[in-house]
Amino acid sequence: MRVPGDKSISHRALLFGAIAEGSTTIEGLLPAEDPLSTAACLRAMGATISPIRAGEIVHVEGVGLDGLQEPEEVLDCGNSGTTMRLMLGLLAGRHGRHFVLTGDKSLSRRPMNRVAQPLAMMGAAINGRSSGNFAPLAVSGKKLRGAVIGTPVASAQVKSALVLAALTAQGSTTVIEPAHSRDHTERMLRAFGANLEVVGEMGRHISVQPGSTLHGQTVVVPGDISSAAFWLVAGSLVPGAELLIENVGLNPTRTGILEVMESMEARIEVINQREVAGEPVGDLRVKQGPLKPFSINEEIMPRLVDEVPILAVAACFCDGESKITGASELRVKETDRLAVMTRQLTAMGADIDEHPDGLTIRGGRTLRGAALDSETDHRVAMSLAVAALLATGNSTLSRSEAAAVSYPTFWDELERLRR
Ligand code: S3P
Repeated sequence: MRVPGDKSISHRALLFGAIAEGSTTIEGLLPAEDPLSTAACLRAMGATISPIRAGEIVHVEGVGLDGLQEPEEVLDCGNSGTTMRLMLGLLAGRHGRHFVLTGDKSLSRRPMNRVAQPLAMMGAAINGRSSGNFAPLAVSGKKLRGAVIGTPVASAQVKSALVLAALTAQGSTTVIEPAHSRDHTERMLRAFGANLEVVGEMGRHISVQPGSTLHGQTVVVPGDISSAAFWLVAGSLVPGAELLIENVGLNPTRTGILEVMESMEARIEVINQREVAGEPVGDLRVKQGPLKPFSINEEIMPRLVDEVPILAVAACFCDGESKITGASELRVKETDRLAVMTRQLTAMGADIDEHPDGLTIRGGRTLRGAALDSETDHRVAMSLAVAALLATGNSTLSRSEAAAVSYPTFWDELERLRR
């Protein structure tokens, strides 16, 4: 099987293509709601992007670093935190231009100060509800100045917003993260020609010199390891299962799920490792076998932050106690994922304690089918689907359509594999 294109890389390919000179060709772009939000915003500001359809190459005609026009309408970021946060960084330095960004109910509750405040240190003017913390947000484009900025959280969205702002600021900018978050922005922007250096201990310091021109590139998007994660867990637990997932992105800032599943003694093999367009890629073979409980903390969290919901499901099927700590970021994702997973898995009979920054899960009880709800969160929807597959009896899942945010073919694929 294959999983759809990596969501993080897909957003970046569209964004960087739009601000480059010339054409960018994107192979394997994720045709899901989140990247469609990014594409719609960029089109509203003058970039030409060909239709985004499964299996088709996407062409972007860039407008250059200073070419984005003032849109006539509000920019709708939908459910996508990556769209909104990266857009804030991209637009803050468009001197004299005015932009308004909005999103759905979930996105309008997610904190934007983490981006707006460090951008303000560069001279940005971003206003919104609760002192600029929540959308709708207004950006008054300013001439930005470079700065040395320590970010409050290890977040690739925050880092990327600052790096994008730095491209047109006066003077150099250094972004220092508390821990190394996913580095797709650094890899891809350098390939587009940005003058960007990763220095310091463990890649936590990123220095950007403005003034380079970005040039359109060919981007090949690998399969999303965050989508493969559902099948890694299902393949480890469904009796008799064996899956080969081809062409999965294996960037070391994203492979925390493999590290944990190795500690659980999952039967996962990484084969055919290679590098494609600057990103490590490989195939994953998974076979069913017993899983051991696990403990994860803040050290690994940036490498598997989106996989905690499916790991919570896996924990329910290990004999013994699993512990997740250092995961308070999950409370400000598309939903409060610690609360939602606790609520939904408890309805199936799971034994879970919720803590401010994590979960303790005592596995080994049989889960029973129940009336479940994604609570509008795509990763919750797909995690619960795997839980339901492994439970006794039938489950129903309300708001299952949320999966389309990152994996529109998930339900068809599940049905195909089940048969
Ligand atoms: C993403 C970064 C992560 C992740 C999100 C995508 C990105 O968020 O949860 O799904 O593409 O940069 P944070 O940067 O807020 O941790």
